Amino acid sequence: MPRLTDITWDEFSAMGLEEKTPYLSRGDDGMTPYHTLFAQQFDRPLLERLCELANRIRFINKSREGAMYLKSVLAHKRAMLYFSQPSSRTFLSHLAACQILGLTTGSVRDAATSSEFKGESNEDSVRTFSSYFDMIIMRSPRQGLAEKMAWELSNSSRPVPILNAGSGKDQHPTQALLDIYTLVRSFETKGGLDGRTVVFCGDLLRGRTVRSLSYLLTRFDGVRQIFVAPRELQVPDDVTAVLDAKGVEYSLSGNLKAAVKEADAVYMTRIQDEWDGTKGESAAIDTTHFKFGAEELALLKSDGVIMHPLPRRDEIALCCDHDPRAMYWRQMRNGMWIRAALIAAVFGCERTIMECGYR
Ligand code: NCD
Repeated sequence: MPRLTDITWDEFSAMGLEEKTPYLSRGDDGMTPYHTLFAQQFDRPLLERLCELANRIRFINKSREGAMYLKSVLAHKRAMLYFSQPSSRTFLSHLAACQILGLTTGSVRDAATSSEFKGESNEDSVRTFSSYFDMIIMRSPRQGLAEKMAWELSNSSRPVPILNAGSGKDQHPTQALLDIYTLVRSFETKGGLDGRTVVFCGDLLRGRTVRSLSYLLTRFDGVRQIFVAPRELQVPDDVTAVLDAKGVEYSLSGNLKAAVKEADAVYMTRIQDEWDGTKGESAAIDTTHFKFGAEELALLKSDGVIMHPLPRRDEIALCCDHDPRAMYWRQMRNGMWIRAALIAAVFGCERTIMECGYR
């Protein structure tokens, strides 16, 4: 199995994402991640294994004895949560996932409280965390920082796994995992996720969750993707290039109602205006037709689902919240279970948990 110590940063960074995948794996099966950086690291068997592991952890955690057992699994490990961009769910669900498995945690959520305020680089900060912790869960506005740090740490005297909890406008692999887990659970008694139609709506240009989930959906058979957005915020070419290369059926549209009629799942996203320049460009874009409300709800199939990575603004009307097809609350909790599964797998505890005596 190739290793990050065998390759220079320049050689590694020049590779395609699928080509990078074996360098990031634990080395036991070529797929299970050591560093988790992007969606391309997850193939169908690995996704299925992680969903099963998440189900198992969810089940074991129901009893006091089971929860105590899970807390013993990684009680000897510490994780650092380094979030230099705002976060509620991703931070808390990773924290809760660590707590379920017994990891102790530290956190920096604001550079103003760390030595970065004194001018320390992100790179030196991550290097510092690796001195005290066994895993670094990080979110950064800097695209590529998690990947650079994975290479740096693997080539240092204290290699520890990096878990990307959102990198710039680029990728959000653990969000995509929880989205897949939610879709798999939503359709598990209804014939599965293969062959379904998923509609993405909102800011598809700057939403990193869309890029990661669109890729993971290509791991399922015949999943059609419809991208609904104002022209200025339509899905970028690198996403459609992947779909073209894989022969996935997709279309771009400006008509949410028409797309909802075809949808098995509608994935709404907010306008990512934190990426605007000083002029506040987003405010000039007409987004009125890219909101999910009572009319769209009436058009959605009876077994369709509405998803959102959250936070929401007004792109899903409050009247949808109590509809059984509103899956965004469950989606959020699913994030905790699938992140616990991923962390367990990164530390090589998948079999221990799958084969433990709790039934
Ligand atoms: C998303 C993100 O940070 O990319 N939030 C999340 O992690 N659940 C989506 C967003 O901020 O719109």
